[in-house]
Amino acid sequence: MQKTIFWVSLVGLFLQWDNVGAFHDDVYQPRVPIELIEELQDIDNPYPATPERIELGKQIFYGKGLCVTCHSENGKGLKRPGHPPRDFTDKKWQEIRTDGEMMWVLRNGSPGTEMPVRVGKVINEEEGWSVIHFIRTLMDKE
Ligand code: HEC
Repeated sequence: MQKTIFWVSLVGLFLQWDNVGAFHDDVYQPRVPIELIEELQDIDNPYPATPERIELGKQIFYGKGLCVTCHSENGKGLKRPGHPPRDFTDKKWQEIRTDGEMMWVLRNGSPGTEMPVRVGKVINEEEGWSVIHFIRTLMDKE
Protein backbone atom coordinates (compact mmCIF):
# COMPACT_ATOMS: atom_id res chain seq x y z
CA MET A 1 0.00 0.00 0.00
CA GLN A 2 2.69 2.45 1.01
CA LYS A 3 4.63 1.56 -2.11
CA THR A 4 1.60 2.37 -4.25
CA ILE A 5 1.20 5.75 -2.57
CA PHE A 6 4.89 6.42 -3.20
CA TRP A 7 4.66 5.67 -6.90
CA VAL A 8 1.41 7.54 -7.35
CA SER A 9 2.87 10.66 -5.77
CA LEU A 10 6.07 10.33 -7.78
CA VAL A 11 4.13 10.12 -11.03
CA GLY A 12 1.99 13.06 -9.85
CA LEU A 13 5.12 15.09 -9.27
CA PHE A 14 6.40 14.39 -12.78
CA LEU A 15 3.05 15.30 -14.32
CA GLN A 16 3.09 18.55 -12.41
CA TRP A 17 6.60 19.40 -13.60
CA ASP A 18 5.52 18.58 -17.07
CA ASN A 19 2.58 20.98 -16.84
CA VAL A 20 4.70 23.81 -15.50
CA GLY A 21 7.12 23.30 -18.38
CA ALA A 22 4.37 23.35 -20.98
CA PHE A 23 2.74 26.42 -19.45
CA HIS A 24 5.93 28.43 -19.90
CA ASP A 25 7.22 27.19 -23.23
CA ASP A 26 7.71 30.74 -24.40
CA VAL A 27 7.26 34.28 -23.13
CA TYR A 28 4.20 34.94 -25.26
CA GLN A 29 2.05 32.20 -23.80
CA PRO A 30 -0.63 33.41 -21.38
CA ARG A 31 0.41 33.54 -17.74
CA VAL A 32 -3.16 33.48 -16.44
CA PRO A 33 -5.41 30.43 -15.96
CA ILE A 34 -6.80 29.58 -19.38
CA GLU A 35 -10.42 29.52 -18.14
CA LEU A 36 -10.14 33.19 -17.09
CA ILE A 37 -8.40 34.52 -20.14
CA GLU A 38 -11.39 35.89 -22.07
CA GLU A 39 -12.78 37.63 -19.01
CA LEU A 40 -9.39 39.16 -18.15
CA GLN A 41 -8.72 40.32 -21.69
CA ASP A 42 -11.99 42.29 -21.59
CA ILE A 43 -10.88 44.34 -18.60
CA ASP A 44 -9.59 47.78 -19.50
CA ASN A 45 -7.27 49.85 -17.38
CA PRO A 46 -9.74 52.00 -15.40
CA TYR A 47 -7.33 54.97 -15.30
CA PRO A 48 -6.40 57.01 -18.38
CA ALA A 49 -2.69 57.09 -19.27
CA THR A 50 -2.08 60.72 -18.28
CA PRO A 51 1.52 61.93 -17.74
CA GLU A 52 0.82 62.11 -13.97
CA ARG A 53 -0.44 58.51 -13.95
CA ILE A 54 2.64 57.27 -15.82
CA GLU A 55 4.88 59.23 -13.43
CA LEU A 56 3.16 57.56 -10.46
CA GLY A 57 3.69 54.15 -12.08
CA LYS A 58 7.35 54.99 -12.64
CA GLN A 59 7.82 55.83 -8.97
CA ILE A 60 6.29 52.50 -8.00
CA PHE A 61 8.43 50.57 -10.48
CA TYR A 62 11.67 52.06 -9.12
CA GLY A 63 10.39 52.44 -5.57
CA LYS A 64 8.10 50.51 -3.27
CA GLY A 65 6.94 47.99 -5.91
CA LEU A 66 10.57 46.72 -6.02
CA CYS A 67 9.97 45.83 -9.67
CA VAL A 68 13.39 47.24 -10.64
CA THR A 69 15.20 44.63 -8.51
CA CYS A 70 14.21 41.93 -11.02
CA HIS A 71 12.98 43.82 -14.07
CA SER A 72 16.05 46.14 -14.12
CA GLU A 73 16.47 49.85 -14.88
CA ASN A 74 15.55 49.60 -18.57
CA GLY A 75 12.82 46.95 -18.16
CA LYS A 76 14.69 44.25 -20.05
CA GLY A 77 15.05 42.22 -16.86
CA LEU A 78 18.07 40.85 -15.04
CA LYS A 79 19.51 37.57 -16.23
CA ARG A 80 18.58 35.13 -13.48
CA PRO A 81 18.45 31.36 -13.21
CA GLY A 82 15.01 29.83 -13.79
CA HIS A 83 12.31 31.90 -15.50
CA PRO A 84 13.84 35.19 -16.56
CA PRO A 85 11.77 38.30 -15.80
CA ARG A 86 9.79 39.49 -18.81
CA ASP A 87 11.53 41.79 -21.29
CA PHE A 88 9.16 44.77 -21.24
CA THR A 89 10.87 46.35 -24.27
CA ASP A 90 9.71 43.40 -26.44
CA LYS A 91 7.17 44.87 -28.86
CA LYS A 92 5.55 41.53 -29.69
CA TRP A 93 4.98 40.74 -26.00
CA GLN A 94 3.55 44.23 -25.41
CA GLU A 95 1.09 43.73 -28.27
CA ILE A 96 -0.04 40.29 -27.15
CA ARG A 97 -0.44 40.95 -23.42
CA THR A 98 -3.45 42.94 -22.16
CA ASP A 99 -3.62 45.20 -19.09
CA GLY A 100 -6.21 42.86 -17.52
CA GLU A 101 -3.84 39.89 -17.78
CA MET A 102 -0.99 41.90 -16.25
CA MET A 103 -3.26 42.88 -13.38
CA TRP A 104 -3.99 39.21 -12.70
CA VAL A 105 -0.23 38.56 -12.49
CA LEU A 106 0.23 41.53 -10.15
CA ARG A 107 -2.53 40.16 -7.90
CA ASN A 108 -1.49 36.49 -8.03
CA GLY A 109 2.13 36.40 -9.07
CA SER A 110 3.13 34.13 -11.94
CA PRO A 111 2.74 30.61 -10.56
CA GLY A 112 5.89 28.50 -10.78
CA THR A 113 8.15 31.55 -11.22
CA GLU A 114 9.77 34.17 -9.03
CA MET A 115 7.25 36.84 -10.01
CA PRO A 116 5.72 37.63 -6.60
CA VAL A 117 2.26 38.88 -5.59
CA ARG A 118 2.43 42.69 -5.65
CA VAL A 119 -1.13 44.08 -5.52
CA GLY A 120 -2.57 43.61 -2.05
CA LYS A 121 0.92 43.10 -0.61
CA VAL A 122 3.23 46.01 -1.39
CA ILE A 123 1.00 48.16 -3.63
CA ASN A 124 -2.74 48.76 -3.97
CA GLU A 125 -5.02 48.30 -7.01
CA GLU A 126 -4.69 51.88 -8.23
CA GLU A 127 -0.89 51.70 -7.98
CA GLY A 128 -1.01 48.40 -9.88
CA TRP A 129 -2.91 49.95 -12.80
CA SER A 130 -0.49 52.89 -12.77
CA VAL A 131 2.60 50.72 -12.95
CA ILE A 132 1.03 48.86 -15.91
CA HIS A 133 0.79 52.20 -17.74
CA PHE A 134 4.47 52.78 -16.99
CA ILE A 135 5.40 49.29 -18.30
CA ARG A 136 3.73 50.25 -21.60
CA THR A 137 6.19 53.15 -21.99
CA LEU A 138 9.18 50.78 -21.83
CA MET A 139 8.38 49.23 -25.21
CA ASP A 140 10.97 49.65 -27.97
CA LYS A 141 9.58 52.32 -30.24
CA GLU A 142 10.96 51.15 -33.59
C1 HEC B 1 11.64 38.79 -7.34
C2 HEC B 1 11.66 39.22 -8.73
C3 HEC B 1 10.51 40.04 -9.28
C4 HEC B 1 9.93 41.19 -8.76
C5 HEC B 1 10.28 41.91 -7.46
C6 HEC B 1 8.92 41.59 -9.72
N1 HEC B 1 8.89 40.72 -10.76
FE1 HEC B 1 7.60 40.80 -12.36
N2 HEC B 1 8.38 39.06 -13.07
C7 HEC B 1 9.42 38.36 -12.51
C8 HEC B 1 9.65 37.16 -13.28
C9 HEC B 1 10.70 36.09 -12.98
C10 HEC B 1 8.70 37.17 -14.33
C11 HEC B 1 8.51 36.13 -15.42
C12 HEC B 1 7.37 35.23 -15.00
C13 HEC B 1 6.91 34.31 -16.07
O1 HEC B 1 7.70 33.93 -16.94
O2 HEC B 1 5.73 33.94 -16.02
C14 HEC B 1 7.92 38.38 -14.17
C15 HEC B 1 6.87 38.74 -14.99
C16 HEC B 1 6.15 39.91 -14.89
C17 HEC B 1 5.11 40.32 -15.79
C18 HEC B 1 4.72 39.60 -17.05
C19 HEC B 1 3.80 38.46 -16.93
C20 HEC B 1 3.25 38.14 -18.28
O3 HEC B 1 2.04 38.28 -18.41
O4 HEC B 1 3.99 37.78 -19.22
C21 HEC B 1 4.65 41.52 -15.36
C22 HEC B 1 3.55 42.37 -15.98
C23 HEC B 1 5.42 41.87 -14.18
N3 HEC B 1 6.31 40.87 -13.93
C24 HEC B 1 5.27 43.04 -13.49
C25 HEC B 1 5.96 43.34 -12.32
C26 HEC B 1 5.76 44.57 -11.58
C27 HEC B 1 4.86 45.71 -12.01
C28 HEC B 1 6.53 44.49 -10.45
C29 HEC B 1 6.63 45.48 -9.32
C30 HEC B 1 5.36 46.00 -8.78
C31 HEC B 1 7.24 43.20 -10.51
N4 HEC B 1 6.87 42.55 -11.67
C32 HEC B 1 8.13 42.73 -9.56
C33 HEC B 1 10.13 38.70 -11.37
C34 HEC B 1 9.84 39.76 -10.54
